[in-house]
Amino acid sequence: MRQSSLVVVANRLPIDDSVAPDGACEWRRSPGGLVSALHPLLRHTPATWVGWAGGTGPAPALPDVDGVRMHSVPLSAEDLRDHYEGFANATLWPLYHDSVEQPEYHRSWWEAYQRVNQRFAEATADMAEPGAVVWVQDYHLQLVPGLLRQLRPDLRIGFFLHVPFPPPELFMQLPRRAELLRGMLGADLIGFQRSQAAHNFAQLVAKVLDVPATDRRITVGDRVVRIGAFPVSIDTVEMAALATRPDVADRAARLRRDLGSPEQVILSVDRMDYTKGIEQRLKAYSELLANGHVKVRDTVLVQVAVPSRERVGQYQILRERVEREVGRINGEYGRVGEPAIHYLTQPFDRAELAALYRVADVMAVTPLRDGMNLVAKEYVAARVDDTGALLLSEFAGAAAELPQAYLVNPHDLEGLKQGLLAALRAGPDDLGARMRAMRAHLHRHDIRAWARSYLSALDDSGSLLTRLGAAD
Ligand code: ADP
Ligand code: F6P
Repeated sequence: MRQSSLVVVANRLPIDDSVAPDGACEWRRSPGGLVSALHPLLRHTPATWVGWAGGTGPAPALPDVDGVRMHSVPLSAEDLRDHYEGFANATLWPLYHDSVEQPEYHRSWWEAYQRVNQRFAEATADMAEPGAVVWVQDYHLQLVPGLLRQLRPDLRIGFFLHVPFPPPELFMQLPRRAELLRGMLGADLIGFQRSQAAHNFAQLVAKVLDVPATDRRITVGDRVVRIGAFPVSIDTVEMAALATRPDVADRAARLRRDLGSPEQVILSVDRMDYTKGIEQRLKAYSELLANGHVKVRDTVLVQVAVPSRERVGQYQILRERVEREVGRINGEYGRVGEPAIHYLTQPFDRAELAALYRVADVMAVTPLRDGMNLVAKEYVAARVDDTGALLLSEFAGAAAELPQAYLVNPHDLEGLKQGLLAALRAGPDDLGARMRAMRAHLHRHDIRAWARSYLSALDDSGSLLTRLGAAD
């Protein structure tokens, strides 16, 4: 088995199996923030990505993707149900997102979480060269740093949490809270999106494990674990280049015509997830239509909501509710050939997404809670002519970096409506100044800057950065 000096470990591989129109199995990039962040970074790097390929049964043998070796970890039907859909996405996910849905606690889910984390740790131990750097990602794998350190004390281990890390009053609900914290502390460096999350973690470690902790350093026996905020980003240059491609400009022009050449297009692009605030946004839009502040002929809403975690009950209920509401709004306010909402659930390729971003006069990104939200950053990067308005939730990690957006509290329906109207009515000078400032920020703080700051904190020799082409 060929080993690597850099191993990324994430629940999901950057490719997913899907069925092509001719019935054959084809591999395509999986949607989601983690893949969008890491895929451009590792491209053409001799690294290994350890993850799950999206199905059940034996692990498929996968081709390299852009020079990165894919090593798949198998999940059984039971693992899928109890680890991925259960402990990861029906316990941790809602708990870490302010409990906007009720987290569920089941002992069999915890057993599956431990079992799958052990499997990932063993697969990683096999794939890592002596002294390799291993970068473990996200809430599905919080036990992996600790398990891996037991198996391979020679490795340099990083952990990065893409989602929020909750305050003590929420985290303390978790029946196995001490084990989860200890698992993360197996890393040499623990990265969060926001400094508030690092603060929450330090407080919890001190309280639950009785270990001295500051917001920067935690001493565990004879080891020092560093913690800090490293806000994840996007490949800004790549998105800007894509958005300016002539074929993308043509697609954008065609899209606008297909939408009936409205004066203004509002766009939202989300995974179908209850954290994304889709229902609140639809309600705000429907009230603006009802009181005549927005008219269907002048303005359309395009809501892209790609299905996600489809067997989890809370996601099924959400989809039904969203689709009922879209139907109601279209029935009430649409006309023949002129729906109020264009609702799309398909995955799009990057060029199609860039065309959508080009068409959007207002991009509405209004999650109830989000670790970062890369869609907001992609939209800004695509607006190379400094037009367009970003309506952004205060509760998205991105809000801390993009204060020039129209910031709203998505729980406040009146505030959401006012924010949307302000974005729709803003003049070009104001919009231009805001967009320029946000684009400049994203050019300085892109995905390479993220990797540079994280990996230079993790691997002080600097050799990894040089190989990734991420060094200054
Ligand atoms: P999350 O990680 O919760 O899914 P983010 O906004 O951070 O949310 O990341 C979502 C990523 O998935 C973005 O890079 C976005 O471009 C991509 N994406 C979202 N919807 C689609 C879609 N319909 N087709 C393809 N990619 C999508
Ligand atoms: O950002 C949170 C996250 O779980 C990422 O790990 C992933 O990119 C995205 O949401 C998509 O979720 P899933 O892997 O469950 O489809």
